[in-house]
Amino acid sequence: AIDIKSLRASTGMITIDPGYKNTGSCESAITFLDGEKGILRYRGYSIEELAEKADFLEVAYLLIFGELPNSEELEKFHSDIKSESHVDEEMKKILDGFPKSAHPMGVLSSLTSALIAFNPTSVNVSSEKEMYWAIVRIMAKFPVLVAWTLRKKKGLPLDYGDDSLGYVENIHKMMFKKPNQEYKKDKTIIDALDKLLILHADHEQNCSTSTVRIVGSSHAGLFASLSAGISALWGPLHGGANQAVLEMLEAIEADGGDTKKYMAKAKDKEDSFRLMGFGHRVYKNFDPRAKIIKKSADEVLGALGIEDPILSIAQGLEKEALEDQYFVDRKLYPNVDFYSGIIYRALGIPTEMFTVMFALGRLPGWIAQWREMRLNGEPIGRPRQVYVGENLRSFIPVEKR
Ligand code: ACO
Repeated sequence: AIDIKSLRASTGMITIDPGYKNTGSCESAITFLDGEKGILRYRGYSIEELAEKADFLEVAYLLIFGELPNSEELEKFHSDIKSESHVDEEMKKILDGFPKSAHPMGVLSSLTSALIAFNPTSVNVSSEKEMYWAIVRIMAKFPVLVAWTLRKKKGLPLDYGDDSLGYVENIHKMMFKKPNQEYKKDKTIIDALDKLLILHADHEQNCSTSTVRIVGSSHAGLFASLSAGISALWGPLHGGANQAVLEMLEAIEADGGDTKKYMAKAKDKEDSFRLMGFGHRVYKNFDPRAKIIKKSADEVLGALGIEDPILSIAQGLEKEALEDQYFVDRKLYPNVDFYSGIIYRALGIPTEMFTVMFALGRLPGWIAQWREMRLNGEPIGRPRQVYVGENLRSFIPVEKR
């Protein structure tokens, strides 16, 4: 029998790096991140400048195609998207099949996968032109799926978009338009939504993006890769943290608002509780997105005249954590999810839908990373392992075990 030890020696050198803490999976020209200094740039543009001056569709174009579009390019991209915004009626039946209690992330991931059946030409894409149309199709149809997921949760009839509106405004209308009521644009809300989507649009090789790239590396197709990415985003250690943060803040409020008690729980190694929305694999400084979102939360609540006690709890926790040795030593700062939920709540988005909003923002980043991976002709992603199990054994019949 071959001895495992000698087999191991003959497989050459393998790097063991669980969680890929120090392993790069690719070269990428999309997003620059310096976690020590708290810097984030899309295609060389600072996140602060993009959040202030650009709109989400421009940023999507920038991430996917590499340059900011001129007005003609942007117009064409938007009109191509509008031309593909129809979602097959049969998809409504699939949505109907889910119980109302289904988690929106599971619904969204399933619908994105189901979309493949109705758009077979978007699967085996390899030329840039085919890729372009697969990208346009998903940029057009994904917001409809998001809106339908929300409307199902709220018990509202399903609707299609309005081509006369901007990309984000149309998403907002599809999500919130009530039957027999005229839709009124609220600039504060649309601007806040635009900003949140931009801030979530890409974040280099995080868990969901790496998932999209690795699934796409088998040439499974864009929609299938995205569906897998949505599932990866769902987890509370990743995108699901925004839902978890709000639930945590609500629990602290319901428990009398004693933030110190929860700080102590977070530091207690016997307790599995973590301060949700704190800490990041790469940022060992303030998450620059959290800074922008915190300011935006203040502005949005002010403009909408909302006084939310949850905001004061969040601010209190942040202050205490920044002064606490445990958090200081481990460089745990608020991340993008810490304040985003407070804005989503103010905009009337149910807590269970928060991670869906993250997915909506992350869509162009996932697409850009998938496109880059395909255009670079990257090989199939296939990590190695070091086997630590049993050596060769003889089978024992069930009655003798
Ligand atoms: N609360 C309390 N302690 C924490 C927290 C937290 N939120 N985050 C990390 N720590 C502690 C760990 O217990 C560990 O302590 P130790 O060295 O004494 O064992 C140390 O800090 C390092 O933590 P790791 O889990 O090893 O760091 P990792 O890089 O693997 O995890 C993660 C990063 C998953 C984001 C983690 O900080 C976390 O669970 N945060 C809360 C969930 C969250 O907000 N996720 C959203 C991330 S942003 C995003 O995906 C969009």
